[in-house]
Amino acid sequence: MNDLIFRQVRILDGSGGAEFIGDVSVREGRINEIGAVTEGLAPGGREIPADGAVLCPGLIDTHAHDDGAFFRHPGMEFKLSQGVTTVVSGNCGFSAIPADPTKDSVAASGGILAGLEGKFTDLDGYYAAALARQPAINNIMLVGHNTVRSLVMGDSKSAPNDLQLQEMQRHVTHALEQGACGFSSGLIYRPGRYSDTAEVTELAKMAAPFDALYTTHMRNEGDRLLEAVDESLQIAADSGVHLHISHHKAAGKGNWGKVRESLQRIDTALGQGQPVTLDVYPYTAGSGRMIEYFNLDRVSEELAEVVRIASCKAFREYEGRMLVDIAAHENISLTDLVIKILTAPLGDRTLCIHFIIDEADVETNLAHADMMVGSDGIPDLRGKPHPRLFGTFPRVLGHYVRERGVLSLPEAVRRMTSLSAKTFGLSERGEIKPGFWADLLMFRPDDVIDEATYDEPKTEASGIDMVVVNGQIALEFGQHSGVGSGQMLRYRRHPFGH
Ligand code: CU
Ligand code: ZN
Repeated sequence: MNDLIFRQVRILDGSGGAEFIGDVSVREGRINEIGAVTEGLAPGGREIPADGAVLCPGLIDTHAHDDGAFFRHPGMEFKLSQGVTTVVSGNCGFSAIPADPTKDSVAASGGILAGLEGKFTDLDGYYAAALARQPAINNIMLVGHNTVRSLVMGDSKSAPNDLQLQEMQRHVTHALEQGACGFSSGLIYRPGRYSDTAEVTELAKMAAPFDALYTTHMRNEGDRLLEAVDESLQIAADSGVHLHISHHKAAGKGNWGKVRESLQRIDTALGQGQPVTLDVYPYTAGSGRMIEYFNLDRVSEELAEVVRIASCKAFREYEGRMLVDIAAHENISLTDLVIKILTAPLGDRTLCIHFIIDEADVETNLAHADMMVGSDGIPDLRGKPHPRLFGTFPRVLGHYVRERGVLSLPEAVRRMTSLSAKTFGLSERGEIKPGFWADLLMFRPDDVIDEATYDEPKTEASGIDMVVVNGQIALEFGQHSGVGSGQMLRYRRHPFGH
């Protein structure tokens, strides 16, 4: 007997194939029948009329920093309201695990993972603690280089000695044994930036026996983008793992257009049989911890000109404003303003938004067949966060698919569901298939659009009718059910290929 039956719905099954109309039923958390449903409804079950809506697999956010959000905001409203049913956490080298409960994990992660609490030390412990809060959506984890390195070496700028390297390798292996989907790096951040190619390679090698991933926020995304791509390809080739490049972009006006050359290098590697995938967020601004982008001895005014403050404990009144406007208002130079913010008490926790990406590059990225979508949202809900936290996926479906025609709807759904599930080892997810877990999104393709803006970033999208997580209705016409049916997932590899 079925718990849910979607009647006469337009089905996009996640494979990239054309849509077809039929019924879809759900029983005990899994997809039961597709096409003509023969079994009846269980007592208390629901029959859902489609009214012209499309049903697709729940979307997968391949680039999340939600490690702490699963503790602080288990309702995960900012993701669920986009149709996201699974996130990949632990990106950019920052992960909740491994952890030493006697140390401040927030400090080590630069605040990106804020919200973590509890006494866990490893993935099993983190998963148990996160699950106890009944999360609204599913989560799978990467183990992060910055986290492992600061646990073993503090903020040391030297290369690890043999013992330190072995200890770091043990941490990475332990996480992979417990089900992490790969090893992530963030080589612009401290302490990852102090590591050389060899160190990262020796750690990425730990993922090879698990057939897991190496994901990277590359060492450079601007003037030295192409060198950074080469380094990433080399690390993955030498360690024998699948490379996934995070938030692919060419940062800074002088580099706009370089994503074409960068993608060419990736296509060459793919042509030679090297497994490579990528993700992108559909915006022309990045966001992160402001102190990582400025050298206080030589403040780049060119960068400061395109920076806006997202959240700032030191000067709340700056939130949501461009630095140029604040500087003009206070009659000080941009350099003095940057120094004032970053040297104030708690000023190093400031999050900023920087408009550094070309719109044409966003479209070039989205047109690439191995490009997934990752929000890179930082779930700090104070101030004015980057709108990608609430808007990423509806923006792809509404703006880039419907309004711009950069990619077709079935292809966009494939890249945000089955491609991501196969790459990140989310078994029995990412497609509407009998027996697969019932993570489902019902949306209206003519209406779906992001409503989150830079001025009003905490606004949920339009056109998302219903989201089902592991067979339970989690969101229905803007109402979050609070059912808390999310799971903590463990990696299971699918063969790479199209
Ligand atoms: Cu990131
Ligand atoms: Zn990053």
